[in-house]
Amino acid sequence: MSSQIDHLLDETRKFPPSEEFVAQSVSSPELYERAAADREAFWAEQSRELLHWHKPFTQVLDWSTPPFAKWFDDGELNVAYNCLDRHVEEGNGDRVALHWEGEPGDSRRITYAELTDEVKRVANVLEGLGIGQGDRVAIYLPMIPEAIASMLAVARLGAIHSVVFGGFSADSLRSRIDDAGAKLVITADGGYRKGRVSALKPAVDQALADRGDGEQQTVEHVLVVKRGENEVEWTEGRDVWWHDVVPAASPDHTAQAFPAENPLFILYTSGTTGKPKGILHTSGGYLTQAAYSHKYVFDLKPDTDVYWCTADIGWITGHTYVTYGPLANGATQVLYEGTPDTPHPGRWWEIIEKYEVSIFYTAPTAIRSFMKIGRSVPQKFDLSSLRLLGSVGEPINPEAWMWYREVIGAGKTPIVDTWWQTETGAIMVSALPGVTATKPGSAQVPLPGISIDVVDEQGVEVGNGSGGLLVVTEPWPSMLRGIWGDPERFRETYWEKFEDQGYYFAGDGARLDEDGDLWLLGRVDDVMNVSGHRLSTAEIESSLVAHEATAEAAVVGASDETTGQAVVAFVIIKESYLAEHEPAGLAQQLRLWVGEQIGAIARPRDVYIVGELPKTRSGKIMRRLLRDVAEGREVGDTTTLADTAVMSIISAQVK
Ligand code: PRX
Repeated sequence: MSSQIDHLLDETRKFPPSEEFVAQSVSSPELYERAAADREAFWAEQSRELLHWHKPFTQVLDWSTPPFAKWFDDGELNVAYNCLDRHVEEGNGDRVALHWEGEPGDSRRITYAELTDEVKRVANVLEGLGIGQGDRVAIYLPMIPEAIASMLAVARLGAIHSVVFGGFSADSLRSRIDDAGAKLVITADGGYRKGRVSALKPAVDQALADRGDGEQQTVEHVLVVKRGENEVEWTEGRDVWWHDVVPAASPDHTAQAFPAENPLFILYTSGTTGKPKGILHTSGGYLTQAAYSHKYVFDLKPDTDVYWCTADIGWITGHTYVTYGPLANGATQVLYEGTPDTPHPGRWWEIIEKYEVSIFYTAPTAIRSFMKIGRSVPQKFDLSSLRLLGSVGEPINPEAWMWYREVIGAGKTPIVDTWWQTETGAIMVSALPGVTATKPGSAQVPLPGISIDVVDEQGVEVGNGSGGLLVVTEPWPSMLRGIWGDPERFRETYWEKFEDQGYYFAGDGARLDEDGDLWLLGRVDDVMNVSGHRLSTAEIESSLVAHEATAEAAVVGASDETTGQAVVAFVIIKESYLAEHEPAGLAQQLRLWVGEQIGAIARPRDVYIVGELPKTRSGKIMRRLLRDVAEGREVGDTTTLADTAVMSIISAQVK
C-alpha cells in the first residue's frame, strides 16, 4: 500500500478543461465564491432553484442539537412530484426518462409522462395495500424500470424504502426486513444476470418463512413483478402479481406535500461490527444536494444529454445518481439490467453507441477489468458521443484514469473522480468539469457548499503536503440523519472521535498535496472496499464462525489488481470437526458458505486454513500482520504479539 501511495503522489499530470468545454459548462468559478460568501444562503438558493417546494421553507439549517441536523425544516415538498409531475407540467412529458436495456436485448423507452403515469398507478396500489406515510417498504428487484417506479411510488406516499441489492442472500434480506420492520416487499420472480435468469422470489419466501422463534412477522404483502418468467411459489393472500394490479389501478394520484425532514429511505451498509447499519436519509436536503451535484458535477444539459450511471439501485450510487438526481433534473438516462460482459465483452460500449450516451459514470473496478481485456474491445464501437466521464466507489489509480480518458474518452473528455459515501448521500468531493484542471488519481476539491478537511488524531488540520483523516467540518444538506433505530451508534460511529470540534469522521485516510488537492488513501477502519462495495471484516468473520467446522476466523482486505481489495480469510478448524471429516475441499466449502450467507460479493477470494491467529496479549487479532501475509509481503513488527513465533507458522501454512 505505501509504495502504491508514493507512486500516486509522484503523479504530476494535469488536464485543464478545453476552451470548448468551458464555454458550454454549467458551472463556473463563481459557484465557489457564492458558497464561500454565505454557505447556508447558497444552499437555500440551490434548493429553491432546483426543486419545487409545495410550501416554501424559511429556515435553512437547524444545528441546535448536533449531530442531528434539520435542513429546510419548515418547508414541504413531495419528492416524487419533483422527479416526475413537474417535468410533465412544464411541457417535458415527451422527453425520454429511461432508455431501458434488458440483458437479453429487449428494451423499453419510457417518457416522463409514462413514468409519471406508472408511478401514480403504483402509488394507488401501494395505498390499497395499506402503505402510508412512515411505513417501510423493502425493494428487492433487478435493474428494471419497475425498480425506479417502486422507489418513487413509495416516496410519493411519504413512506420509506429500503432497497436491498438483488445479489444479497435470503439471510441478509431477512435481517434488513426485520430491522426496518417492513410492511411490504416489492420483488420480481427473477432477473437476468450473466445470460440466465437469477431467481429473486425464492429468497423473499425464505426470508419471510417462519423461523419458529415466535418473532412477529411485519410483512403483510409481497408485490411481485414478472420478469424472469421462472416458476415461483405463491402464498395466497400475501403475494400479489404486479401485472394483476398496477395496469388496472387508476392513473390519477395527487402528490401530497410532506415535511422536508420526512424520511425518504433507509439503506443498509457495512460498518465495523457484524451488523449492517441502516443509514437514514430524509427528503428536502437529500434531494437538494442530489439534484445540485448531479447538475454541476456532470455538467448536465437535460434537453440534449444522455446520461448513464452503471450502478445498481441496491447501492447509494443507484439511489442518488440513477433515481433521484437525474430524475429531479429531468435528465434522459440509460438503465441496463445485466452484467457488462453479457453476451459479449463489449456490451457496455455497444449500449453507449446505441443510445449515444454523453455522460458516463462508473467504478474503477470496472475500468480495470476492461483494461485487462484490452482496448480492442471498446475500439470496435463508436464512443464519440461521450463528453464527460465519472468515477466512484474507490480510489482510481492514475493508470486506470489515463486509460479511461484515452480509450473511452478519446483523450479529451474531462474525468470527475467523485468521493462520497452512503452516509453523505451525495457527492462531496469532485472536480467541477469546466472549472477544475483534473489530476489522474486525485478526487480533488470539496464541492461548493461542502467543507472538508484532513486532520490528525487530535483533530488538528494537517495542512498541504500531509496525510491524516478525512473529516467534514460543517453539516451538509444530504447528510445522513441517523442510523435506523440506533441513535447511539450514529453518535459513536461518526461524531465521537472529533466531538470537541463537531466534525463528521468519514473513516477514510486522505492526503492533501501541495496544491491542496485531496488524495483518498482507503479506509482506516475494519471496512473493506471490494469492487467499490463496502464489506465489513466482522460480518464475514461471524458468517465463517457460524459454519460448523470453524473454531475461529479472521478476515482482511488485501489489495487486488482488479477489485481494489479482495476478501482473504484465515480460519482455524475445530479439532472435533477434523476428527470426523476430511479437510480437503474445506476452504472452498467455506468460500461458498459465505456467499450463501451474505451474498456472492462477500465470498472470500482466498480462505487459508491455519493453526493459529496472531493475537496481542489482550487477545486482539492483529489484522495488519495477516494483511502482510495475504499481500505476500514481509511480515511487519510482531513484538506486540503474545506469541511471536505464530507468524512464521502462519506464513508457512499459507505457502
Ligand atoms: O472509502 C471510501 C470509498 O467508498 C467508501 C464509501 O462506500 P459506500 O458507502 O459504499 O459508497 C460508495 C459510493 C459512493 C468511502 O468511505 N470511496 C467512495 N468513492 C471514492 C472512494 N474512495 C476513493 N475515491 C473515491 N472517489
